Formats: sequence, C-alpha cells, structure tokens
Amino acid sequence: MIGLMGSGKSSIGRRLAKKLKLDLIDLDDYIVAQAGMSIPDIFAERGEDGFRDMETAALRAVLGRPAVIASGGGVVMREENRALLKEHTPVIWLKASPEFLAERIDGDSNRPLIAEGDTLSRLQQLAELRYPLYEECADFTLPRGDMNKPDALAAILKFLD
Ligand code: S3P
Repeated sequence: MIGLMGSGKSSIGRRLAKKLKLDLIDLDDYIVAQAGMSIPDIFAERGEDGFRDMETAALRAVLGRPAVIASGGGVVMREENRALLKEHTPVIWLKASPEFLAERIDGDSNRPLIAEGDTLSRLQQLAELRYPLYEECADFTLPRGDMNKPDALAAILKFLD
C-alpha cells in the first residue's frame, strides 16, 4: 500500500490483511522497532536522509514476505525503493487529495514532515512531487476520497480477485 500520509494505508491495510488472512506489516512501526526510537526522534537525530536509509533497509527486509505492507508516504522518493516496489506487485495507491488528508492529520505530532507550517499547503507540495511517483509504481489506484473504508476494501479485493 502506498500513498500520502493519512490516506489510510495502515487502517485499510489492516482490514485487507485480515480478509486475506495475512499479516500486516506497517513499515513505520518496523523502523521504530528496529531503531528503538520514534519517527520524530529519528528525524531529529538522523535527519530525513537517515530516516530514508532506514526505510530502504526496512523495505528490503520485508518485501517478498507473505503480508500486506503499509509503507510510509515517502517510500516512493527513492528510485531504489520504486524499483523494489515495481518488482513486488501488486502495489496499491490510496489516492487522496490534500484537502481530504489535511482534515485527518492536522496537528499530528508524530509526522515530522507536517510539523511546521500549514498542513494543507505542505500536503499540496508533497502531492505535486509524489503523485507522479505513486502513479509510476501503482498497479491499482484507489480514489480514496470518494470512498469509505469498507468500499475501499471491497474495491481492492475486487482488483486482487
Ligand atoms: C512520511 C510519512 C510517514 C512516515 C514519515 C515520513 C512521508 O508515514 O514514514 O513521517 O515522507 O510522507 P505515514 O504515511 O504512514 O504517515
């Protein structure tokens, strides 16, 4: 599962994993467990680059496992990660507008990339940069804003069928 923060990768991923009788691996949780530090602490101590290094290592470690993997929103930023994602289909993009997402994640202190400044304009910047990258990797694009979670799950299951 790929998509901007707040698009429901973990929550829809959890429902999907349950239906498919697979484990859900949340890549952020995996990184936090490996590092023994929270995401904001990793960003503060090692910078975004340090976090991205850990993210790539985590992605390499978990891809190929029989599981639903909920990645972090920035996983597509590195070409190496995009190549890995493309090798391990199916990749599902939960596509949501910055407006839809801003309402959900405004004020979330666990997300360093939106910690400063206006959440909506930050998400707009990220969307502009990342939408083409999500598109490049996705085998299936789910228009998340138009659907509640049960409908989203049903659409993904139909695609996978
Ligand atoms: C990030 C998204 C976060 C987390 C980190 C960076 C991003 O994950 O990996 O804060 O670059 O968009 P979620 O998408 O699960 O919030």
